[in-house]
Amino acid sequence: MELNPYQERAVIANGHCTVLACPGSGKTRVLASRAAYLLEAYEQGRVCAVTFTRDSAEELKSRILTTCGHANASRLAVGTFHSIALAQLRRNRSSGLGRLISEGERLSLIRRCWKQHAKRHSLESVIQAIDSSKSKIDWQPVESAAIMAALTTYGELLHAEGAIDFSDLMLKAVQDMNTKSAPPLSVRWLLVDEAQDMDEVQMEWVKAHARQGIEVTLVGDDDQSLYSFRHAMGYAGLKHISEYLSSAVMSLPINYRSPDNIVQHANRLISYNADRAPKAIEAFNKLHGAIDIMRVADRWSEADLIAAHIAAKSDRESWTVLGRTNSMLDAVEVAFVERNVPYYRLGGKSVWDKTVGSTLMGLLHSVAGGSWTGLANTLFFCGMAPALVNDISRVLPDATCLERLDAIDHDHPLLENSKSDREMFASIQEAMRDWVQQDRLDRPALVIHAVSAWLAERTTEENATLLQRLEGILCRMNGRLLNRVVTATTRCKSISSGTPIMTLHAAKGLEFSNVWIMGAEEGNLPHVESTPEEERRLFYVGMTRTKGQLIVSSAASEGAESRFIEESELPQ
Ligand SMILES: Nc1ncnc2c1ncn2[C@@H]1O[C@H](COP(=O)(O)OP(=O)(O)OP(=O)(O)O)[C@@H](O)[C@H]1O
Ligand SMILES: [Mg+2]
Repeated sequence: MELNPYQERAVIANGHCTVLACPGSGKTRVLASRAAYLLEAYEQGRVCAVTFTRDSAEELKSRILTTCGHANASRLAVGTFHSIALAQLRRNRSSGLGRLISEGERLSLIRRCWKQHAKRHSLESVIQAIDSSKSKIDWQPVESAAIMAALTTYGELLHAEGAIDFSDLMLKAVQDMNTKSAPPLSVRWLLVDEAQDMDEVQMEWVKAHARQGIEVTLVGDDDQSLYSFRHAMGYAGLKHISEYLSSAVMSLPINYRSPDNIVQHANRLISYNADRAPKAIEAFNKLHGAIDIMRVADRWSEADLIAAHIAAKSDRESWTVLGRTNSMLDAVEVAFVERNVPYYRLGGKSVWDKTVGSTLMGLLHSVAGGSWTGLANTLFFCGMAPALVNDISRVLPDATCLERLDAIDHDHPLLENSKSDREMFASIQEAMRDWVQQDRLDRPALVIHAVSAWLAERTTEENATLLQRLEGILCRMNGRLLNRVVTATTRCKSISSGTPIMTLHAAKGLEFSNVWIMGAEEGNLPHVESTPEEERRLFYVGMTRTKGQLIVSSAASEGAESRFIEESELPQ
């Protein structure tokens, strides 16, 4: 693999080293080349390369093995912090580790504790407190007694159920090493990519390895630290650990990814953040990348603009759409489907799998002779109490939807307490009879329109607009109702090529031919729930993903144009 002299120096460095460098300067290339170099240059000793997501670990492994060949594969371990810690714990504890619960199970368990102790607080604040307690070594208890009680119960329940969660893995690995009840990984070199995202516990794990004589290479960029809400240590952390290890700190000053003008705009933007590692950067590519700033009336017009623009291009697949939140990407997905532009969503649910889409599809499925679940979810979506929905769902469990609805009449004891639930139930009872009848007569468009209108009347204006667009897509399809439901919900899953759509967070570490950043409004980017510094880093990461063109768009109805457009001096 070709390397410039700065990269070469980092690849063959002796001892601990930290490579702090800008986007696209070849940090990941250096990490992969260094791993390959160590395996080839030394006949003995294992290398472990760690990163944060499964996808980037796979990518890293294949980059290393492409460089050094498979002959040394047995001396190489590549994984996420969690997977490596899990393997470490399993090797050293023959029993007693506990069952690792899934993310879904973790959330239901937290919900149980929240409901029991801290209902007056948000679920989010309980999740935050639990995450925080496991991502710091010196953790300060939270002030709220209710949240503390939820947190304590969470720990007790995990213990009682013989389970552990993902965050426990790192914590236990560190504790085991510190108490000498477990050895460190049996490797000679430990390499970490995206090291700015390490939290305190992950950093302690790296330090514990260094104390045992393992040589540590960290590569990262403090300007791309995007997870301070998950306690990533960013610049302060990188500085601390580099000083602790007395690492040689190096930089890579050449950006190989983006055109010169875009690198300069990105630099102007990030210079607004204080407390950064000093880093020079110069673009290798002296070409000029086209930049466009667009402003439209509202989110749907923005989505239409994106889809129409990309649909008209001969190189559709060279574009990638990045958004601050997953929900703003829904509008783009719908606009792509409407124009038959192939796309895929990376690291986020499709609009058909989210609440509004899945409720509509579930209800249509129930109408077309499918299960009761879609109808039950609809009642819940429209505001019926979950306990009542569950009770109703127990009546005549083996019958059809219509038979089940008919088994509950207007003065059924289940409905006696709430007038609004009674009315909603009567309304869906009558509507279902009609919809099922129309479906039997094979009038899918009529049913789709009626079902969508029924739901739209019982939800927010924003959801109603989305329903209308989904209705349009289904109405334009061919075939019977059931076929349309199946086709629409499986189509997005079967496609893995086309224009990628993803959040700015998911784009970190990746690169694309052309980038479109949407939703550049005050309130969204910077987002109200975050800090301007962190959001500036997000915009910076977005801009520096492009190898060619950059488009930034915003919607007037959502807020004023993002300050980041002005700060980066993008041409208006
Ligand atoms: N010496 C080089 N010669 C040619 N191309 C290079 C060189 N170094 C890196 N590149 C290319 O530049 C691009 C960016 O490299 P890489 O992804 O390793 O950068 P990075 O610093 O890890 O970026 P990020 O900060 O976004 O993670 C890649 O396409 C890579 O192949
Ligand atoms: Mg990288």
